Amino acid sequence: MTFLGIDIGTSGTKTLAINAGGKILASGTQEYPCYAPKPLWSEQDPDDWWNAVIKTVRSVIKKAKLKPADVKAIGLSGQMHGSVFLDKNGKVIRKAILWNDQRTVAECREIETAAGGRENLIKLVANPALTGFTAPKILWLRNHEPKHYDKLRKVLLPKDEIRRRLTGEYATEVSDASGMLLLDVAKRTWSKELLSALKLDKDLLGKVYESEDVTGQLTPEAAKLLGLTTDCLVVGGAGDCAAGAIGNGIVGEGILSTSIGTSGVMFVYSDEVKIDPKGRVHTFCHAVRGKWHLMGVNLSSGGSLQWFRNAVCLELLSEAKKKKVDVYDWLTAEAEKTPAGSEGLYFLPYLSGERTPHADPFARGCFIGLTLVHKRGHLVRSVMEGVTYSMRDSLEIFQDLGIPVKQIRASGGGSKSPFWRQIQADVFGQRVVTINSGEGPALGVALLAAAGAGAFKDVQEACKAVIKVVKETKPNPKAAKVYDAGMPVYQDLYKSLKDVFVRIQ
Ligand code: XUL
Repeated sequence: MTFLGIDIGTSGTKTLAINAGGKILASGTQEYPCYAPKPLWSEQDPDDWWNAVIKTVRSVIKKAKLKPADVKAIGLSGQMHGSVFLDKNGKVIRKAILWNDQRTVAECREIETAAGGRENLIKLVANPALTGFTAPKILWLRNHEPKHYDKLRKVLLPKDEIRRRLTGEYATEVSDASGMLLLDVAKRTWSKELLSALKLDKDLLGKVYESEDVTGQLTPEAAKLLGLTTDCLVVGGAGDCAAGAIGNGIVGEGILSTSIGTSGVMFVYSDEVKIDPKGRVHTFCHAVRGKWHLMGVNLSSGGSLQWFRNAVCLELLSEAKKKKVDVYDWLTAEAEKTPAGSEGLYFLPYLSGERTPHADPFARGCFIGLTLVHKRGHLVRSVMEGVTYSMRDSLEIFQDLGIPVKQIRASGGGSKSPFWRQIQADVFGQRVVTINSGEGPALGVALLAAAGAGAFKDVQEACKAVIKVVKETKPNPKAAKVYDAGMPVYQDLYKSLKDVFVRIQ
């Protein structure tokens, strides 16, 4: 018995195959472009996703030497919030508008007004209107491309468009649907009240399933294209954050994951629906049946260090390439020579504005506190510290809301660095652990597929069998003290600069 996990990411699609014990048999990736026809716009062509799905599934089948009937079920994951607009014949009307597109500032205000204010909106759908979410994109189509809007019959999320092409079903599941801003997250069904306030027809949306539920089987056409059989099931799957959390085993109370990729995600499991009345963190349904999660998203996390490398260290980068060394190892070695707190240097990681906790598109990145003492190593360290302070912002909100955090699991590219993991343990003042897998969302939905097809009782049991904690980093009490003192300074810097950012804009 084999199960596939397919993750429709923003830079590419990743597919992996696992056996019934959760062992990874093979994986494959295929990249595609992202289009920015105007500043702050971000779009993709759903056909590119589909071609990448066909290519990666076929390559994984070949690499793992699978027979068509071996693959029992597929789980789908994908970039959240993106809108695929479909006409009455299931044809894509225009390119999909993605999660990182910022064109909908006016539509977010329109939604707040229609919902009777921001507070009321949060009561209806557990979250405030953010430019990246899906509902503002539907309103944008209505306001700016009425000819396209007239043809609109369905709106699907990226992975759910792939589901439609695989099974013919218009469906979604609770974790990804939560990020559309149209789901009553507490009740796990579409919010009739908000849909009617926005004059949107419920028929525009797919049927909502729980994440491990079977949503259909492959059509004969899809089975032929992928080299599989029509007996292959497709389960709900999850948005990439919840899928990544399953891949990290975040399936029980008290466990939180930190992920440092381009953006940073702080993700915590919750048995009950807990909503931040100020809307600073997101409350979404989890991919665990009947459970929820809270999430803080920082837009420039590992992306901040990548920016520093590309903008400031180009010569070093080319020297490292020549010597076949990872330039991040050199930069980290310089940072390690500097003390915790970077001798009073602070970095605000708001290079693309910020989502959590400020939801401020005008916020800017800054180095503050420079003196003659500071060298490149201090700059590197303060970038890592600033990103980690921004993650602590989310942690403090979770703690404010009474969510227990007993174990922190570090994941993503940034967490591969032992030095950055130590900074995490010191800034959070808690031990940080890592697990035996770095496969993230694709593994998460492969496990959901295995659970949905009956190989495990449920996804928690699948995680228990497959995911193990392998390393632990303890906080250094001296450094933790430095960061406890630094945190309020870091937080005050945004408050002092908030209005200046607007003036700069
Ligand atoms: C989550 C979010 C991103 C996308 C892209 O809210 O916007 O993580 O899912 O991966």
